[in-house]
Amino acid sequence: MKKSTIASQLKLIDWDFSVAQKGVTTLPHWYPGTFTSQVPSALIQSLTRHGDVIFDPFSGVGTTAAEAIRLGRRVWVTDLNPIGALSSYVFCGLLALKACSEKDFEAFFKNVVDFIDESSQSIFCKDEAIDEHALDMQQYLDGMLSPSSRRFEEVVVKRPQLNNEALESWIHKSSLLELDEFLKKALTLQSPFARLFFHYMISSNIRSMSSQVKSWGHIADNVKPKAFTYKHVRSYFKKWVVRFLGSLRKTEVRANNNLFDGMVLRVDVYDWSSSDDLLSYYDIPVSAIITSPPYGDAIDYLYSQKLSFYSLGYTEEEIKILVSREIGARRKRFNKDSRRVWAEELASAVERQAKFIETGFIAAILPHKNHGREIGLNLMREQLELSGWSAFFEVDRSISQKRTRQSWTSIKQETISIFYKG
Ligand SMILES: C[S@@+](CC[C@H](N)C(=O)[O-])C[C@H]1O[C@@H](n2cnc3c(N)ncnc32)[C@H](O)[C@@H]1O
Repeated sequence: MKKSTIASQLKLIDWDFSVAQKGVTTLPHWYPGTFTSQVPSALIQSLTRHGDVIFDPFSGVGTTAAEAIRLGRRVWVTDLNPIGALSSYVFCGLLALKACSEKDFEAFFKNVVDFIDESSQSIFCKDEAIDEHALDMQQYLDGMLSPSSRRFEEVVVKRPQLNNEALESWIHKSSLLELDEFLKKALTLQSPFARLFFHYMISSNIRSMSSQVKSWGHIADNVKPKAFTYKHVRSYFKKWVVRFLGSLRKTEVRANNNLFDGMVLRVDVYDWSSSDDLLSYYDIPVSAIITSPPYGDAIDYLYSQKLSFYSLGYTEEEIKILVSREIGARRKRFNKDSRRVWAEELASAVERQAKFIETGFIAAILPHKNHGREIGLNLMREQLELSGWSAFFEVDRSISQKRTRQSWTSIKQETISIFYKG
């Protein structure tokens, strides 16, 4: 498509999305600072074509990845946060499964529900005859997802155990015992994707199962509950799965079968403040980067997920190391020059990310200048222009109240900046 046509198309979009679009993805794992699926959906459809590779280097829970798969693109995502990576992997794996086999997709969820209900019919149960169906599905998924589920599990899961000291100060003892028993059973499953699914389900629910149900900031700031409330674990899981399945059924997957004849999703846990090597793995070049980099001084992405980290067996020390690498963390806001440091780390990360794309578009979404963070957008823009990219399109949009509240920040507007290199 001609550049001028793309530009006219971009101008016609209502970037505030005042009318909700049907059929887009809804991610069931909460996370602060996510963007609505409608943002990557519109960008993907305007800037790329079916089968293209899209790269989101700051992928969070995988909103861009999910829309990319839904719309029949291949996608590569990276994030420092292993919980975000887990979400991208499991959610997109399920979408890919729905796209290539509705039958397997429905069977997977039937087994999940039976497993939660402790039905002896569940083919996931270890005591049953060889779980052929789950293993067939695993093979299918391993052809589309990279790394394989077993390898990915080694990357994100440490020493999973729920009845641990760290969680005792957040969750009612009886709920914790139920959770622990549930996890132990889930870990006996043969399919690594099924085990990852249950880690994802626990991680999605653990904050609401705790007795601290105020904003994520309370978890990040270690404000422990004063009194404990018992929560029935299987009822939480059942409700979550039913809602999740309902929303996946409504998701309109537009991918065609040719796409699923090879890898469609690559997920890396990667720190952009390091200089470690990173490979794209796709044999076709990246066509667009679509990303929402971390906001400066606004959010603690990692600490907000503290309970999920405990559930996967991360120690305080392991969490602290990750936190020290987080670009722009809210926790760092009292450091001298924190905004400048954020902006410089961001610009340097973007410079390295841009090297993965020879020609095409880079779309980045950052806080609007009214929020005192224009230095981030300015340094990023300077860096991209120095690397041969030209400004192509820019638009401001309002962030919905829900997201603002969830993010615990006062940021209510952001800027979508698109760059082009031919
Ligand atoms: C605004 S969020 C992205 C949210 C995403 N668009 C979504 O909808 O889920 C920014 C992301 O940058 C990640 N991040 C922060 N520092 C990083 C680093 N050093 N390397 C890689 N990712 C980092 C955070 O973990 C967070 O997930």
